[in-house]
Amino acid sequence: MSSDLLKNKKILVMGVANKRSIAWGCAQAMAANGAEVIYTYQNERMKKSIKRLVDDEEHLIECDVASDESLQTAFTTIGERFGKIDGLVHAIAFAKKEELAGDIMNTSRAGYSLAQDISAYSLLAVAKYAQPLLNNPASIVTLTYFGSERAIPNYNVMGVAKAALEANVRYLARDMAKYGVRVNAISAGAVKTLAVTGVKGHGELLRMSEERTVDGKSVTTKEIGNTAAFLVSDLASGVVGDTIYVDKGVHLI
Ligand SMILES: NC(=O)c1ccc[n+]([C@@H]2O[C@H](COP(=O)([O-])OP(=O)(O)OC[C@H]3O[C@@H](n4cnc5c(N)ncnc54)[C@H](O)[C@@H]3O)[C@@H](O)[C@H]2O)c1
Repeated sequence: MSSDLLKNKKILVMGVANKRSIAWGCAQAMAANGAEVIYTYQNERMKKSIKRLVDDEEHLIECDVASDESLQTAFTTIGERFGKIDGLVHAIAFAKKEELAGDIMNTSRAGYSLAQDISAYSLLAVAKYAQPLLNNPASIVTLTYFGSERAIPNYNVMGVAKAALEANVRYLARDMAKYGVRVNAISAGAVKTLAVTGVKGHGELLRMSEERTVDGKSVTTKEIGNTAAFLVSDLASGVVGDTIYVDKGVHLI
């Protein structure tokens, strides 16, 4: 489905690793609804991968959210190339594979910090560097998962990071309102992406999740992307600091 809903809007999408990425579903939905899409990628390896999808150097900018220097450079470049932007999608998370297995009390101090840094703190850092470039109104959308609320097997440290991310959304929404920026999260159902394969027993997690959807079929990155497109649009002007489930009912069942 396509429309002019996002015509004349420039939307930054952070976190495309490949065609399975939720960020790619978001980018396609933004473009289908008329937006100009700008992308950030994590590193050179990711650049090779994203270039298979987006063959347009100008719209591809490196940004490692673990580094303030990289964030600063990326947002300076975005400002120089594109001026003001109307929204961004933060679809970034990371934890070491060994932290996504077994008992949570074995989480290392360093592993805990890393998961929090990349998966939760980075939303605050991105908001800070993006703020001078954001139009009034503008919208920020991030991606979370139900493991923030329930103890999902092996999701462990990432569930804790997602709980922090959702709290960040509420505090950021309060503080960015004065700039006309709305901040929300999408709690997406489980989909098979690179990130999910880091969770031990992810096959079982994906199967259990699929069985619990209302129609027995997993949510798609397209469906998640369509909700992101709604959230960055002016149609969502009343949606602030919320977490919207796009999981085909899994959280209910
Ligand atoms: N796949 C799912 O089932 C699911 C469900 C709910 C929420 N989510 C969330 O959706 C978001 C996107 O994940 P995905 O499942 O599409 O996986 P993905 O592996 O396709 O995307 C994760 C992205 O994070 C990026 N990233 C990691 N560390 C980074 C860093 N230091 N700097 C910049 N980028 C970095 C990676 O490069 C990658 O592009 C994540 O926040 C994830 O937790 C995923």
